[in-house]
Amino acid sequence: QGTLRDLAEARGVEIGAALGADHLSGDPEFARLAGAEFNAATAENAMKWDALQPSRGQFNWGNADSFMASARADGQAVRGHTLVWHSQLPSWVSDGGFSPDQLRTVMGEHIGTVAGRYAGQVAYWDVANEIFLEDGSWRGSVFYDTLGEGFVADALRMADQADPNAKLYLNDYNIEGINPKSDAYYDLARSLLEQGVPLDGIGMQTHLINGQVPHDMRQNMQRFADLGLDVAVTELDVRIQMPADQGELQQQGQDYRAVMENCLAVDRCVGVTVWGIVDQYSWVPDVFPGYGAPLPFNEQYRPKPAYYGLQQALAG
Ligand code: G3I
Repeated sequence: QGTLRDLAEARGVEIGAALGADHLSGDPEFARLAGAEFNAATAENAMKWDALQPSRGQFNWGNADSFMASARADGQAVRGHTLVWHSQLPSWVSDGGFSPDQLRTVMGEHIGTVAGRYAGQVAYWDVANEIFLEDGSWRGSVFYDTLGEGFVADALRMADQADPNAKLYLNDYNIEGINPKSDAYYDLARSLLEQGVPLDGIGMQTHLINGQVPHDMRQNMQRFADLGLDVAVTELDVRIQMPADQGELQQQGQDYRAVMENCLAVDRCVGVTVWGIVDQYSWVPDVFPGYGAPLPFNEQYRPKPAYYGLQQALAG
């Protein structure tokens, strides 16, 4: 069996990973796996608003530029993550007391500067991230509260102007299956397309619990494809209640395989990105105490059943 990236290239899909700046620069084995196994990359944190523009007009490009250089050296397609998000947003934006016009200007400056800097080098932008709640209603945020739902169309148009070649996405979790939240995306996407707003795809983050790949994931992806959109699995991980036993790791392998097979079954699914590479750096235990081991490689940098699940699906 070849590497994941060789197999993915043969199938015409992307296999990506989220890469943390510290690990890319400070962990040679992590950096080696990133380049050897993955033909796409997302910066885990380095391209978020708080990392790039911690105070107004002051841009920190260090980690984002290093990430872009590493992706270029490794021949990886870049998913830019993320331009407009309520989280990891500096307080000068969230508590800035901006009027609608001012906030639109702030948003335009951020999107224009960031997407403009990397124009032509970013294949996909997660333009707006996590805009809906589980029941399909709008999530409150400084953007929604100040600008109403029009902030999404504004952000997409601003990103299109800054980088006309990037594919522009909306991205969220718990929208892999058909449910009120994915329905909200379906309705919004249809309405944006009707208005001629530049939207190219829907990113399904796919942060799963072991054994819980939605049964209707493929059908859900297909309904977005049928609207004329691309879809992508953008942040796959499968968390296990610790300690993980062999049976659970095997189940996780089946889940990884099923997710990749769902993507391969839908023509307009561009690929699968895993949210990290090795278990020890995952965000999961910090946010879900007692859960862990969510990624394809273990703490010894050895492939797990999750890795082989991806491999088997790609070898198809
Ligand atoms: O930058 C500070 C650093 O200065 C400080 O020394 C360190 C000490 O804890 O914290 C650093 O910030 C952390 C940051 O990651 C960078 O490492 C934050 O505490 C930590 O909360 C943050 O977590 C990130 C999380 O997004 C924040 O919401 C995770 O690494 C990242 O994997 C996670 O990714 C998100 C996607 O962007 C969107 N979808 C969900 C996904 C998982 O939550």
